[in-house]
Formats: sequence, structure tokens, C-alpha cells
Amino acid sequence: MCGIVGAIAQRNVAKILLEGLSRLEYRGYDSSGVAINNEVGVRAHRAVGKVQALKNKFEATPLDGKIGIAHTRWATHGKPTENNAHPHFSGDDLAIVHNGIIENHEKLRTRLKEQGYVFKSETDTEVIVHLIHYELRDESDFLLAVKNALKYLEGAFAIAVTLNDQNHRLVAARKGSPLVVGVGIEENFVASDQLALLHVTDQFVFLEEGDVVEVTRDGVTIFDSKDVIQERPVHVFNHNVDATDKGEFRHYMMKEIYEQPKVIAACLEGRISDNKVLTDCFGVDSSFLKSVENVHIIACGTSYHAGMVAKYWIEDLANLPCTVEVASEYRYRKVAVPKDTLFLTLSQSGETADTLAALRKAKELGYLTSLAICNVPSSTLVRESALTLLTNAGAEIGVASTKAFTTQLTALLITSIAIASEKEALSAIKEAELVNSMRSLPAHIDEALKQDVAIKKVSDRFANKHNALFLGRGPMFPIALEGSLKLKEISYIHAEAYPAGELKHGPLALVDEDMPIITMVPHNSMLDKLKSNLQEVAARGGELYVFADKDAELQNTEGVIFTEVPKVDEILEPIVHTIPLQLLSYHVAVVKGTDVDQPRNLAKSVTVE
Ligand code: G6P
Repeated sequence: MCGIVGAIAQRNVAKILLEGLSRLEYRGYDSSGVAINNEVGVRAHRAVGKVQALKNKFEATPLDGKIGIAHTRWATHGKPTENNAHPHFSGDDLAIVHNGIIENHEKLRTRLKEQGYVFKSETDTEVIVHLIHYELRDESDFLLAVKNALKYLEGAFAIAVTLNDQNHRLVAARKGSPLVVGVGIEENFVASDQLALLHVTDQFVFLEEGDVVEVTRDGVTIFDSKDVIQERPVHVFNHNVDATDKGEFRHYMMKEIYEQPKVIAACLEGRISDNKVLTDCFGVDSSFLKSVENVHIIACGTSYHAGMVAKYWIEDLANLPCTVEVASEYRYRKVAVPKDTLFLTLSQSGETADTLAALRKAKELGYLTSLAICNVPSSTLVRESALTLLTNAGAEIGVASTKAFTTQLTALLITSIAIASEKEALSAIKEAELVNSMRSLPAHIDEALKQDVAIKKVSDRFANKHNALFLGRGPMFPIALEGSLKLKEISYIHAEAYPAGELKHGPLALVDEDMPIITMVPHNSMLDKLKSNLQEVAARGGELYVFADKDAELQNTEGVIFTEVPKVDEILEPIVHTIPLQLLSYHVAVVKGTDVDQPRNLAKSVTVE
């Protein structure tokens, strides 16, 4: 993930761009740069490390000008060095900043070298700026040259480009990575995220896939993917909404539940193309994907449940053995590590003491490499792991983890598909199908959230309950565990989860009219077996709460309360079926009158053993 900002104004834009970068730093933090376009040409400062290092350079040697572009980087192609930091140049007068991954950069690089271009960085970005330069040889119009160059690019990108010519404009484009236009008075801007521009405007135009935009001081012209000029609505930013603000919601937990379509889209951004997972998303060296023969997943709490789902995916899709273990157990036992085992940690905070201790132990045990799936880029876990895949869920404030969990699942699905693909356990057609399904995830989550009112009604029935039993089969078993954890964390109802097939081996003894039984019934190959388990419960007078899609052909009957969940591809079921369980535990906690966001005795980040 990287962040880009561009500005064109009557005033010096350097400060605007530097402030924008500070606001975007969450998107990338290993290096940054600003290019200023003025009478003498395009000049840049670039620095490794935090944006502050760049600000120091500007203080020492100011650059002034009324047009500029800026970038904060999270390295994918090429190490975090000053040479690889953006902006990248072709000649002295043309500079670019880029967010995303150009998949065919090697082919383009070879062709451009044949044309005499000399590359100064290891980045995929540099091919774009040389391509535009090449197009400018035959096409004197800067906008058309950019449009022509974009035709050669495969992959995901958002770019902003500046050329030192007489026309005073910026050109920007998006395909697969976000980009907004900020509209000011006689000044206009572009950025990866509106948060980056809130110090200069609250008026935004959200660009669509394939848009190319010409930005001048006086206006903005948007060309859609068919090169037709489009007027797009200007949205006014609601200043009441930010990560530390509950907005319209009564609790952070509910706000974060509702953020899931957006953050899952952010988790997918730049990681999938039209038909495959972009393996570069794991960083500079993704060669481990080909070599891995086993996977050990280590985590705590909710993150552990995400790991349990991934075991099903990794064994099913990649045909590789996968074990999942809580960090507090792993760190104190003798561990046998098979050859070429990937050590995979999962953590929302990246600061959980047991998980960090497990990582430090693993480093002594000869693993293939360590990969952290984490939500906090600056965390210790990220710093100490060889590889990272960020979940991009944004700050999660409610102690009960919601959006952090579903984005972990999304990142794990990306990882499982990447391993399976690189191990040639997955055909290109199947990978394309899976990636296509993943793209529909945010929309399905949105649909699942529509059951909020119905689930609120159901939750009233839990007001006087003291126990609950969750059942699931296959990857729905860890989702049952997560549902029971959510309920116990915030409503203090004692809850347990079992694989549905284990019902007869003990928990059935607990079933009576006071024991609600909650189960997710996806329409998969285990449906009939699960229906038999439900019969066993119903026959003993248990009250069943069933979450299923309509194809499961279940309905409200005596003792069965049915809630519909959207029908989705089987691979997505664990993620989508999580939503009603989150809503249920939230509403039950509200009915019970507990402290939803800060349940007793618990902490968001467990940094002690
Ligand atoms: C605490 C939190 C949980 C979280 C667990 C692991 O118990 O309350 O919500 O799942 O820690 O945290 P991590 O940050 O490592 O995912």
C-alpha cells in the first residue's frame, strides 16, 4: 500500500503535500517523496523512513512551486531506499507517483531498455513514467500521452503525473487503486484518500475504475474508461466521521461492524487483479510461496479463530498440511518443524505478548520464513517478521474484534490462493473463479448487514439466558467458536462452540428449553448432515437459532428461529456468516445492558503474558 497526493494552486503547494503525506502515513511508512514543478523544472526531495525525514529535508532546502505530487511508500518492488522512493522521473521534466502493482513491468522494462531508457530504481513504477515519456515523442499533448501509455499497463494502479510544460496541469488516473479529487477555490487536488486533503478542502469527487483526470487550477475534467467526459457528483465530507468518532452509532463495535464492506474492499485493493492474486502483495520476495510445504499458524483470541478457518482453505486449495495453535501453548512446548514450513502469525494489534514470543522462538527453529498478517503497520510483529500482509481494517476501538477478524479472513484467503496457485495446486480457471468471488465480498457483507433489524428482534429472546451453544461443521466450526467468543465477551453469557458432529458426544446432555443453540447452515456439502444434527436438538426441546441462505430450505417452525444470510460461493461462507453472529452478540449485550465497547476484565491489546 502506498499513498499519493497531488496539488495545483495559486500558492506554494509544498506544505499542503507534506501535511497530506503525514495524514496518509498509515498507508505506507518506509519512504516518501515530493516533486515540485516550478519555473526551473521539476525538482524533488525523497527520504527513507517516516515523513518527518522528508520534512527535515524541506526545512534544510525548501522547494517552492504551485504544482506538485507526493508519495508515501510501502515497498513492494525494490527495497525501501531513496532510489526506489517516489516520485520517479523520466528526464528532468516529467515525474510520477504511483500506488499499486504493474504486473507486466518486466516485459515493459525490457522494451523500454531497448529504446534506450536507463532505469534508476528497481520499482515497477519507473516503467510508467518512461512509457509516458516515450509517448511524448510522438504526441505533444501531455494528457493524450498519459492516456496512450496507460493502454500498455496490466495490474492495479493510481497515478499522478506532472510535466514541466506551458499548460500547468496535473494528470491522474485510477484502475484498481483508490483516488479522489479534492475540489478547492482556484486550487484542486488528488489523493489516495480524502483524509489526506481535509486540511485544504471538504469537497470530493470519487473517481471510478478506468477514469483519467486532468486537473488545473480552474477545474477538473474526468474521462471515463471509454474516454468520454463525465460529470461526477461532488461529495461534502462529513467532519463528524473519523476513526475516533462513533458517528451515528451508539457504540464503536457497531460502527466497526458496519465498516466491514469498506475495509474488506481496502484489504483486497492491490492484492487481486482481474483473474489472480498478485503475489507481490507479500513484499519484495514472494518466492516462499513456491517453496512452502507446510504451514504453522500461531495466534491468540479472535485471530486464532481466523487461523482455524485458514487451515481448511490451505489444506483444501493448496493440499498442504497446516497446523493452527494458540501462541501461549506454542511458546512453551517442544515443537517439531518439518522442512520448508511457513511460520504464519495473525494479530490485529501486532503487539500481543504471546504471539511475539512465539515468533521469537520460531526464528530459532529453522522455518522457511515468517509471515505476519496484521492490522498495524508500525507494530512490533510487523517489524520483526520477514514478510507482512496488512489487513487494512483501520483503527479498531471496540474491544470485541469484528472488522479486524473479517479482514484477517480476507487476507488469509488471499494467502491460501497465492500458495495454492504458486504450488500449482490450483488451475488458472479455478483461481480466476475464486478471485472473482472475492471481489463480490463487500457487496455480500452489505447485504448481510440488512438483517440487522431482524437480528435485533431475535436478540430479545436472549435477555434471560445464561448459557448458549454454537454449532458448526467444516470451516463453520471456527466461526461458531468466534460467535460464542463474541457473545461471552460482551454479554457475559456463558457460551461454548462444538463441531456439530460432536453433539452426541457430550453437549447434547445440556440441551433443554433454556439452552439456545445457534448454528450457521451454509448451503454446502455438509448441509444434510447438519440438518440431522438440528433434528437431534429439536427432538430434545432445544430452541434453535439457524442462520442459513434460502437454498437451505429452512423456515421458522416450532422451536426454530430462522434468519436468512445471503447466498454466496462456498469459499466466502465463513466470512459472510460471521456478520449475523456479530450483530447477534452486539444486540444481546445491549439488551443485557453491559459495557459493549469495554467489557469487564478484557483489554484490546494483551501486551503482557
Ligand atoms: C485480546 C483482544 C482480542 C484479540 C486477542 C488477540 O484478547 O481482546 O480481541 O483477538 O487479544 O489480539 P491480536 O491483537 O494479537 O489479534
